[in-house]
Amino acid sequence: MITISALCKRFDAPGGKSVEVLHNIDLEVPDRTITAVVGPSGAGKTTLSKCVSLLEKPTSGSVLVNGTNLSVLTGADLRKERRAIGTIFQSSALLRRKTVAENVALPLDYLGVVREDVHKRVHELLDHVGIGDKADRYPGELSGGQRQRVGIARALALQPQVLLSDESTSGLDPEVTGSILSLLKTLRDELGISIILITHEMDVVRTVADQVAVLRAGTIVESGSVRNLIADPYSQIGRQLLPVRSTPAREPETLLFEVTYGTRRVVPADWVSLLTEKLRARVGLLGGVVEDIGGASSGRLHISVTFQGLQHEPQDIAAYLNSLGLHAKALNAAPRAQFEMAETA
Ligand SMILES: Nc1ncnc2c1ncn2[C@@H]1O[C@H](COP(=O)(O)OP(=O)(O)O)[C@@H](O)[C@H]1O
Ligand SMILES: [Mg+2]
Repeated sequence: MITISALCKRFDAPGGKSVEVLHNIDLEVPDRTITAVVGPSGAGKTTLSKCVSLLEKPTSGSVLVNGTNLSVLTGADLRKERRAIGTIFQSSALLRRKTVAENVALPLDYLGVVREDVHKRVHELLDHVGIGDKADRYPGELSGGQRQRVGIARALALQPQVLLSDESTSGLDPEVTGSILSLLKTLRDELGISIILITHEMDVVRTVADQVAVLRAGTIVESGSVRNLIADPYSQIGRQLLPVRSTPAREPETLLFEVTYGTRRVVPADWVSLLTEKLRARVGLLGGVVEDIGGASSGRLHISVTFQGLQHEPQDIAAYLNSLGLHAKALNAAPRAQFEMAETA
């Protein structure tokens, strides 16, 4: 587990000044989870990743890996503990004149591991990432996805507890990205490691991440479990992760809602029919997505509700949806405070 606390990072700037690019970052990355860090270019993602891998020293604050504060270590202690963190570099970081096996062996050779053990370990690693048959090839003979697998095998060579990936899937086509992401999930599940995945691709976050932190101008502005953020109708990152585009309803007497699937209970698949029956209303679907995220349905939809007889207040509709495990936000009625309510247990 990694615990980042009150981390600040300043860089010296021309004219004797300095700029703070990370302000008071708190982030916990539990074992066996994939944490995505997203944010616009220049937000400080790479700097954060370098502070975790100890390529940069935090100006203040701490990075604990399983309780050990790596940022205060030096010399041999630092080199030893640094092995706990593996970094997946861009595939271009492979040495072109060395074979795949030699590339993966580099960190082991560097440590002075004996030749036979290196050979055995390298072949295990290559099997693990699905390219056991490519040991004697050169990077130039491999596809982009295969090169990325070599990079992952090399990052795993010293049995790290944490794997850091800074935009390692950018530039790969979607199918290859998909296969690399499923490999990362397998590594999370089989090795129990935590993975910090820096990315600007929302699809990547939705497909693979357990939790996400949004970095903007050096500050974490939103963080939490991907499912919870998607379920929160007021979360900005939740909306980016599961966007909905809808057609505005034309009838002025229609109530419009944004509905998200809560995480505490299974939402009945026929909730639209239930709503229609309960309210004797016409319910229109204007746009939306329902999909499996992390093993359960997540969804965000825009609906319209038009009454045929008896009128209902927006908060009553929201309360009924809430009882079905859904969160509702009125898009054209009362302000938020009026019917934001706790999800009933
Ligand atoms: N070594 C450095 N010296 C000075 N400024 C730096 C250095 N590294 C990064 N920065 C600045 O820190 C900010 C964050 O950069 P970076 O962490 O690379 O962002 P991201 O990876 O989110 O695009 C940028 O404004 C960048 O110019
Ligand atoms: Mg970067």
